[in-house]
Amino acid sequence: MSVETPVVAVDGPSGVGKGTLALSLSAHLRWHLLDSGALYRLVALSAMRQRTALDDETTLAGIARTLPVAFSVQPGQGVRIDLAGDDVTRAIREEHVGDAASRVAALPAVRANLLERQRDFRTAPGLVADGRDMGTVVFPHAPLKLFLTASAEVRARRRAAQLSVPENSATFEKIYSDIISRDQRDASRTTAPLKPADDAVILDTSELGIDQVLRQAITLIVDRGLQ
Ligand code: C5P
Repeated sequence: MSVETPVVAVDGPSGVGKGTLALSLSAHLRWHLLDSGALYRLVALSAMRQRTALDDETTLAGIARTLPVAFSVQPGQGVRIDLAGDDVTRAIREEHVGDAASRVAALPAVRANLLERQRDFRTAPGLVADGRDMGTVVFPHAPLKLFLTASAEVRARRRAAQLSVPENSATFEKIYSDIISRDQRDASRTTAPLKPADDAVILDTSELGIDQVLRQAITLIVDRGLQ
């Protein structure tokens, strides 16, 4: 009997700390990391650079299929992302790219064309996969599925702190309303909507620091015999 390479799926809404948890977990376990949101962001950035409309499903699906991307781990600094040889690590994190990503992510042909590319990340000794549908669609048989939650307000405060935006400002209100509208779009789309898998473990991170979340995740991994 072949033993499948283990996957830990880490899903949840924007700003919940999935990226930080997934990066820390992959470093701790020395497993590979899939940042699936980056793929949607890359499709969106490519589309905007070549002036493709964000609802042109056929062209966007072609972009998703042929995306010339390279991920390279920079020890201690995270992952560098190149698109056709151009370092776009920072460019894809901009708010407007995230917003465009959630639009292209609603298109079934785009999602379908990114599916195999995501599954290819599953190589020994293991994979930590960060996204919205890792446990429901991409790796439905993952032996551990985590679904992170936190209130929209907590997530907006974390995002504002990262950007040094004061909480009683118009910019804060905009961050908060953007989080709400992105959640709504991600949760209400018909293809792969954001929702926990039936067998996911829900971790509410509203009151927890990253170290506490990481410890809980490691306990679950050890309990399930994955490491
Ligand atoms: O996680 P991140 O904010 O980088 O993702 C950007 C957007 O890509 C999300 O708002 C979501 O719409 C989309 N996405 C998705 N499925 C994933 C990962 C991201 O639909 N697995």
